[in-house]
Amino acid sequence: MKDKLTVRDLYSLLREEKGSPAPREVRVDGWVRTNRDNGRIGFIELHDGTLFKGVQIVYDGESGYSRLRTGAAIEVVGELVFTPDNAQPFEIKAREIILIGDVDDDYPLQKKRASFEFLREQAYLRPRANTFQALFRVRSVLAMNIHRYFQDRGFVYVHTPEITSNDAEGAGQVFSIVTDAKDPYRDFFGRKASLTVSGQLHVEAFALAFKDVYTFGPTFRAEKSNTPRHASEFWMIEPEIAFAHLDDDMDLIEDFLKYLIKETLASCPDEMAFFDKFIQPGLLEKLNRVLTSPFARMTYTEGIEILKEAVKSGHKFENGKIEWGMDLQSEHERYLTETHVGGPLFLTDYPKEIKAFYMKENDDGKTVAACDLLVPGEGEIVGGSERETRAELLREKMEKLGNFEGLEWYYNLRRFGGCPHAGFGLGFDRFLMYITGIQNIRDTEPYPRTANQLKY
Ligand code: 4AD
Ligand code: MG
Repeated sequence: MKDKLTVRDLYSLLREEKGSPAPREVRVDGWVRTNRDNGRIGFIELHDGTLFKGVQIVYDGESGYSRLRTGAAIEVVGELVFTPDNAQPFEIKAREIILIGDVDDDYPLQKKRASFEFLREQAYLRPRANTFQALFRVRSVLAMNIHRYFQDRGFVYVHTPEITSNDAEGAGQVFSIVTDAKDPYRDFFGRKASLTVSGQLHVEAFALAFKDVYTFGPTFRAEKSNTPRHASEFWMIEPEIAFAHLDDDMDLIEDFLKYLIKETLASCPDEMAFFDKFIQPGLLEKLNRVLTSPFARMTYTEGIEILKEAVKSGHKFENGKIEWGMDLQSEHERYLTETHVGGPLFLTDYPKEIKAFYMKENDDGKTVAACDLLVPGEGEIVGGSERETRAELLREKMEKLGNFEGLEWYYNLRRFGGCPHAGFGLGFDRFLMYITGIQNIRDTEPYPRTANQLKY
């Protein structure tokens, strides 16, 4: 009896023995995706999760295997038969099917197509559904490719802390950490502690030691905004490069994202074809176009002019009061990237009042050297900037915000061998939405966390 093979092994066999592979006996285990029979002969679509594809099991209609239900765990022993003329390159003619784990009647994933909302309620089962088989494999491959990109280029991976005493972005949307209710803030660390909203400040110190670094880990934000793009827990990739300016930062973002798209298309062709067919028709064309054209770059000030023009010529925004200094809403971002540019767009040099304290102030005294990358269908997926390196200017800003105390070390980086440096944050889950066409961030995360949602 042959050792057990996975569906992945079966497809490797096919590749290795191209030409005329001999039939052989195999053992495979997995779960019944569908089971149908016409009395004489039956077919089980078996998936074991090792590949997006499954394998077809053919059995004798008299055998009783037609009783095996969707979702059941089974072991199949049979003959692997190559069928080059069929849609599937091979099938297994079952000699024996052993029921390993049966399915109760109330199994929620029956054959019919379930909605995303319904599947979200079944977060512990949805990895078995096609869309999530595709999604979570792409998520895994993407994570590895992120590391590969940076490691191949000599970047040092830094594990910045999840527990912190600062609110890097200054937005005040932090989850506090307490051990009991008596002395909520100071009982354990002796000072206010929260979950990190960004590893940037900590990773900057490493950039000033290793030059090129990155952090990649979970990030927490207590934004109550109930949108399809905001999660309370998400992953962020934050590279930081020393002796570098905003242009270098944007070059890096563009090269990095194109690399990730290219590698994902190459590593997950079946999954990406599925998204193209069932989730966002035109996805592959969109991604291939992104690979071959430069990302547009435009200043915030130019963006505002374009939005004003749009309003003049009759475009309706929910917030149509466009004025310099405003924080752009997703609808404005999307107009610029979707309608005006028709592709990814770097919007740069934002008013300093609407951006974080650490961004380098431009010579005009009004704007900062920031860049947001906006993409069609979503809006912002990357936020980056060159950092303020003038110690006293930075200190003034921090004191005005009241966050200097506790962050003296961050200011000191400017006094102890400071240099121009820049970095960015890519929202991992938002990027996953972009490359799969999935419309809700809750469907890109294994167990999404958002306001009022903590079922699993
Ligand atoms: O623009 P943000 O706030 O930038 C920073 O955190 C900087 N410290 C980055 C840096 O320069 N090192 O966040 C970066 C990205 C956003 O563009 C977005 O993609 C994602 O993080 N993001 C979220 N993703 C999901 N849910 C949320 N609530 C998010 N908030 C930000
Ligand atoms: Mg941002």
